[in-house]
Amino acid sequence: MKILFIGDIFGRPGRTIVKERLPELVRRHAIDLVIANCENAAAGFGITPPLAEELFDLGIDVMTTGNHVWDKREIIDYFQMADGNPHSPARRLLRPANFPASLPGWGVYEGKKKGVEYAVINLQGRVFMGSSDDPYRYADGLLEKIKAKIVLIDFHAEATSEKVAFGWYVDGRATAVVGTHTHIPTADETILSKGTAYITDVGMTGPYDSVIGVKKELVIERFLSGMPARFEAAAGDVRLCAVVIECDDQTGRARTIERLMLR
Ligand SMILES: [Fe+2]
Ligand SMILES: [Fe+2]
Repeated sequence: MKILFIGDIFGRPGRTIVKERLPELVRRHAIDLVIANCENAAAGFGITPPLAEELFDLGIDVMTTGNHVWDKREIIDYFQMADGNPHSPARRLLRPANFPASLPGWGVYEGKKKGVEYAVINLQGRVFMGSSDDPYRYADGLLEKIKAKIVLIDFHAEATSEKVAFGWYVDGRATAVVGTHTHIPTADETILSKGTAYITDVGMTGPYDSVIGVKKELVIERFLSGMPARFEAAAGDVRLCAVVIECDDQTGRARTIERLMLR
């Protein structure tokens, strides 16, 4: 199976480049499964039900999020639309699994594509982030229960050390650990010794003439003044950042991971 994972889709520029380039990417790399982090799809902050539908319509199979998941409150209604159907679109949009269990939504999706079972897990780190349950021990519990051989984990975290250590922690137990959240791609994609594909951060899919997606003047002003400011999405130098992971259907082990940056 070949999996395409697209890094944090930021605002309209990010959605537009995905719309323009995804069909060609899927063809050229013979992609079977498309997963994307969409926590910044709505002008940089959260995701709304219509935008979730729009992204699913582009051919994304499963969407992950992170700390921005609740920025648009309407997404709570969307989660509630799942209504017991384990494969509805509302069920294929994830929020970090290690958030309090009482919150709306799910952090794991188990599905089947082209006859092959797979699972996607969304977890959030704890270093320089809001509080959540321990993602390491949470992963242990989830990985024990999941039947599918192919398991991709979106580890949404700030600190590189927490992400790298997590990759090694689940090496051989997951097909891939892909980092999201910092919006800056890292050049450390690799296959770990027991067969897990790993990258610390896939990078943002959005405007790079910015500070991690936001108009740079606004962010500089906030650093200069310390005053709160309304952040707006930037527009220039739009790039699509993603990784392509090829894995063995029988064992779930990754064979290759390739980092992409399209302009
Ligand atoms: Fe993000
Ligand atoms: Fe984030």
